[in-house]
Amino acid sequence: MYCNTASYGLPPRPAWEALQSALDEWHGGRTSWEHWGRSTEAARASFARLLDVDIGRVAVGSTVSELIGSVVTALPAEARVVVPDVEFTSTLFPLLVQRRLDVRTVPAARLADAIAEGVEAVAFSAVQMSTGEVADLDAIVAAAEGSGAITLCDATQAVGWLPLQADRFDAVACGGYKWLMSPRGSAFLTVSDRLLERVVPHSAGWYAGENVHESYFGPPLRLASSARRLDLSPAWFSWVGTQPALELIERIGIPAIHAHDLSLANRFRAGIGLEPSDSAIVCADLPGGAERMERAGIIAAVRGGRLRTSWHLYNDEHDVDRVLDVLDR
Ligand SMILES: Cc1ncc(COP(=O)(O)O)c(C=O)c1O
Repeated sequence: MYCNTASYGLPPRPAWEALQSALDEWHGGRTSWEHWGRSTEAARASFARLLDVDIGRVAVGSTVSELIGSVVTALPAEARVVVPDVEFTSTLFPLLVQRRLDVRTVPAARLADAIAEGVEAVAFSAVQMSTGEVADLDAIVAAAEGSGAITLCDATQAVGWLPLQADRFDAVACGGYKWLMSPRGSAFLTVSDRLLERVVPHSAGWYAGENVHESYFGPPLRLASSARRLDLSPAWFSWVGTQPALELIERIGIPAIHAHDLSLANRFRAGIGLEPSDSAIVCADLPGGAERMERAGIIAAVRGGRLRTSWHLYNDEHDVDRVLDVLDR
């Protein structure tokens, strides 16, 4: 049994089957590659619809850290950036490596307050991977509007179950392999106009060209005018699996998934004596719990010494009850 989507999501059948047939084509050298690339474009369109943002604002890549690494080039020298102290390092390290920036960590609960005058950017996860905590997005957006701070949101633990509107933020980065149930190797970035103007697309290659298939060789530099200028060349097979996974999520709809995931997470919370919460990820101090789960063949995780379970589409109430049983609750 699997309750660890916060680590990686399980592929829906159409995603698995599409990937198998692409691997078979590859194995036999039976096709050219262009149609694998078309999956990237269909997935980009799905992502734009899911986050209610214009497709021209969506860039694609393989990992969150690379995409965040691109957008932080927009921040000027000495810019003060605030980040929650528990932030995942794929968002934190791309900032810290820019030694020209003044990066300060603050307790997650104080993030909105810390976006005061003088702060030029805030970088944070919409949902924290180590605690499951959902950020106070309204408070962060309001504080940033007040001070003019750039907002960089890592929504990897959110998109796929938490309703989110990307154009509330200057940038939203998201890996596909967790709540979007896609293979490792597909990731998205949305960018605002003011950010796109300032970013240096330092990983640009042929796929960042205005016309991809006329950008194979030779100068001049001819990058896309839209967010596609931040594209990284697609890892084909990852995208072949990502397209059907996103289409399935669109068909079911985020509101329905949100309700399903939260009802399971809160059923589990009730079983271990916790108040209901607003997260599909539950982190709890349950001494010996991880060992019991492992012995029972249930896949969960331990983060910061606490048992982390995460509940998604393929889980149901029986799964929750089984885990509670194994935990003797
Ligand atoms: C919040 C968050 N962002 C990003 C990632 C993955 O980042 P990357 O694609 O750079 O490996 C994870 C993985 O656990 C995560 O929890």
